[in-house]
Amino acid sequence: MHEVVITKDGSHSIYVHELDEHYHSVHGAITESRHVFIEAGLKQFKNRQIRILEMGFGTGLNALLTLAEANQSDISIYYTGIEKYPLEKTIIESLNFESLTDHTVTGMLKLIHDSPWHQDVLIKPGFILKKLQCDMHEMELIDEFDLVYFDAFAPEKQPELWTKDLFSKIFLSMKSNSILTTYSSKGMVRRNLEAAGFRVEKIPGPPGKREITRAYKSSM
Ligand SMILES: C[S@@+](CC[C@H](N)C(=O)[O-])C[C@H]1O[C@@H](n2cnc3c(N)ncnc32)[C@H](O)[C@@H]1O
Repeated sequence: MHEVVITKDGSHSIYVHELDEHYHSVHGAITESRHVFIEAGLKQFKNRQIRILEMGFGTGLNALLTLAEANQSDISIYYTGIEKYPLEKTIIESLNFESLTDHTVTGMLKLIHDSPWHQDVLIKPGFILKKLQCDMHEMELIDEFDLVYFDAFAPEKQPELWTKDLFSKIFLSMKSNSILTTYSSKGMVRRNLEAAGFRVEKIPGPPGKREITRAYKSSM
């Protein structure tokens, strides 16, 4: 069962009873997503054209914040989101993200969720979305990504998604000089990323989290 909850910055998140787990940090969903994925990830790029892969598309919050950033900085983005268990429409419609984000994305969350799966959809000029409904283990990654948002449930809850094997598959789908960011800084996560070929660094985290992880695929 999914329950919409309010986090400390006023933004919604979802609590999953079966897993005893939230979709985002209870210290602030939007604050966390901005910190981990936009600041530590997207804003590190100077390129004007970026391919992003999100593992765990969920509420679409990361896609929405990416769209808001793209509107401000005039970058062009091709965004692929992987999700095995799409959320119910009633839950998505109750989320308050847009009222806490800049007006350029008003109405966009609905557009994002109404987009058909497995197709390239032009959300706005310069932002193409492709949502893939599949298991992260079974996905075929044919695109070459500049940036990966790794946003699975915590390693304690879903250890099978934070493995060397899955990270290796992602590594192979990434371009040289690309970045993966994630909110977890667990030793096991860092070791598995390193075993997959990434250079890994710990960087300061958002409220409630001392450190997060940023991993690089460098040019050889
Ligand atoms: C931490 S939540 C995602 C948060 C999401 N990025 C957001 O901002 O709402 C993890 C997501 O991974 C999805 N997920 C869990 N197991 C999966 C799997 N094996 N393959 C693909 N997606 C999975 C969940 O349904 C959930 O939406």
